[in-house]
Formats: sequence, C-alpha cells, structure tokens
Amino acid sequence: MSDQKKSAGDADLAAGRLKSYGRRGGRALSHRKQQLLDIVLPRIRVPIGADPLNPRDIFPEADKIWLEIGFGGGEHPVAQAAGNPDAGLIASEVFFEGIAKCLTAIEARKLENIWLWDEDARILLDAFEPACIDRIFILFPDPWPKVRHHKRRLVQPDFLDQLARVLRPGGTVRFATDVADYAAEAEGHFGRHPRFERLIRRDGDARQVPPDHFQTRYETKQLGDIEPVFFDFVCV
Ligand SMILES: C[S@@+](CC[C@H](N)C(=O)[O-])C[C@H]1O[C@@H](n2cnc3c(N)ncnc32)[C@H](O)[C@@H]1O
Repeated sequence: MSDQKKSAGDADLAAGRLKSYGRRGGRALSHRKQQLLDIVLPRIRVPIGADPLNPRDIFPEADKIWLEIGFGGGEHPVAQAAGNPDAGLIASEVFFEGIAKCLTAIEARKLENIWLWDEDARILLDAFEPACIDRIFILFPDPWPKVRHHKRRLVQPDFLDQLARVLRPGGTVRFATDVADYAAEAEGHFGRHPRFERLIRRDGDARQVPPDHFQTRYETKQLGDIEPVFFDFVCV
C-alpha cells in the first residue's frame, strides 16, 4: 500500500476502529469556548491511566454511575445530572463545539456530578473496569444513512460486547433513533446478543417517550424518517 493510501486509511480509523462520527472541529471556537476547553475540561476530564478505571473513584458519593455516549450539545446529560444528584454521570463526545456547549451548561448550573470524556467513547469503554456502570444512554447516534456507511454505525456486535463488559448485571442501556433501518438493525443486534434483553415498558410502544427522557437537540431537528423510538435493554 502506498504511504498516501495508508495515511488516508489511518485517518479513517479511531481507536483502531472505523470512525463512527463525522467531524470533531468546525469553525473556530469563540475565545470563551476555547477557554472552557483549555481550563475547565482538564478539571473534569475522566482520567485514563494504566490501571482499569473505577468511576466510583471520581464519584465516591454517587449511588449509581451513568454513562452517555455521543451527547452532542450536552442537553441530555446535563438535565439528567441536575435531576439526579445521587448519580455520577460520565458523558462522552468528540465534537469540540458540543463539548464547549456542555461545559458552559455545567458551569452555569454548578453541577459537580458530571465529568466528560472528549475522545472516542470506545477508548473509554476499554478503560473501565468490568461491571462498573449502572446505565448507558445512546441517543440518536449518527445515522450514517448510506448503505456503504452502515458499518460506521456505533451499534455493532463488538460495541455491544464493550457495553456488556462495563455494565453491571441488571444495568440498562437506552438506545433512541428516528431512523427506521437503524432502529431495526440495532434491535436485531441487541436481540441476538446473549447479555441483553429488551425491557418492554408498560405501554409496549417504542414510540412513547419514556417519562425520564429529556429531549435532545438532534431529536428536535426531526431529520429521520420515523417518529423517535426508544428501546431499553437490560444486561443479564
Ligand atoms: C447525531 S449526533 C446526536 C447527539 C445527541 N445525542 C443528540 O441527540 O442531540 C451523534 C453524536 O455522537 C457523537 N459520536 C459519534 N461517535 C462517537 C464516539 N465513538 N465517541 C463519542 N462520541 C461519538 C458525534 O460526534 C455526534 O455529536
């Protein structure tokens, strides 16, 4: 393989895996947002080292540890952290503008129970010790609509293995999308995985917005081809 081709291929890989996100940067950040990334983020950035990461070391007083993957502008993890002071939240996103927005809200609301991870969430998942997370949110992940891009979708069998490893037995995952074929594909992957079982809510209808959901920015854009659907799975 030529060097040029090799580096184009490398650029497409994140954490040794195909990139599941579109871009990390966009236009230049305002001075304030850059300051948040430079000064506030390091204070609440999840520390990954040689030893397996126990999130209870970050949140010693928390009753439960929740993880959000791909938080966009952070509306959901911020609302969950504010509404659940007994939870310690770890929220992951790679898009700098979104991370800065989330940091703005964390500062404004003086939240102390939310820390961030600003690289690929799959690196973070590998770093956790086993069975240390109570709940995971994956809300409106990048839909990658073209068939040749479906392999970039986050929900894949090996990603579910990663989720199953870090969830404690009885822990749950909420997956939401407004794209019909992603909903079917994800339901299939979770359904075939030996460690996940679907939790059917009382109404039994995935289109019913769960009572503990906070609407996300992406969700409001209604870019998909169906009404949003919400699936909860329990790790057995
Ligand atoms: C379509 S957006 C939805 C954002 C948010 N959940 C919402 O509903 O508003 C998906 C987000 O997931 C992020 N993302 C994709 N792959 C990721 C990964 N491997 N690790 C962390 N974030 C990721 C993207 O950067 C993007 O901001």
